[in-house]
Amino acid sequence: MSLTSKKKLAILVSGTGSNMQALIEAAKKPSYPAKVQVVISDKKNAPALEKARKHGIPTIVIDPKLFGSKIDHDQMLITTIKQYQINLICLAGYMRILSKTVVDAFPKKIINIHPSLLPSFPGLHPVKDALTAGAKETGTTVHFVDEGVDTGPIIAQVKVSIQKGDTEDILHERIKKEEHILYPKAVEKVIHELKTD
Ligand code: GRF
Repeated sequence: MSLTSKKKLAILVSGTGSNMQALIEAAKKPSYPAKVQVVISDKKNAPALEKARKHGIPTIVIDPKLFGSKIDHDQMLITTIKQYQINLICLAGYMRILSKTVVDAFPKKIINIHPSLLPSFPGLHPVKDALTAGAKETGTTVHFVDEGVDTGPIIAQVKVSIQKGDTEDILHERIKKEEHILYPKAVEKVIHELKTD
């Protein structure tokens, strides 16, 4: 696939960026239908930013604390994404809930990865919550983003079994290994289903 016919991704991050990295690496393959056009973080010190820069990908920090109002922040996010003519927005450890204004600006164009088998264990601590509940298995889900918390239509899921002695960190690392395979595949699937735009 030529570079010009690849769809353009924006990846939104707040932290480590291992899922971002998996998408960047997948997108480098000539046959992959998308390229990473920009990485946007709400945190100026997110380690993901340095990783993206090493791959020569433009990075932008949009720190909500620097805006007078939520509306101003949301407008900046929308304008930035539009400037880059983005076809699909991938949240990858972006720790903010997108407002209705942002979600409505990009209908069916925002996806997220969440480390549980949704609808089980939505919210901030899905790995810990699965352990606390004594679940035998958990997993990861890629889903479209709506205004709710981890509630949009599901695109793809993978199960991960919970083992004796698992801590939150150990289990999350095992889930992330699956996420790094699942997210690029799910993005590819969504891209193929995108209407020409
Ligand atoms: C991942 O487990 C993802 O599912 C969740 O946040 C974590 C981000 O990790 N939304 P990383 O920054 O991609 O390493």
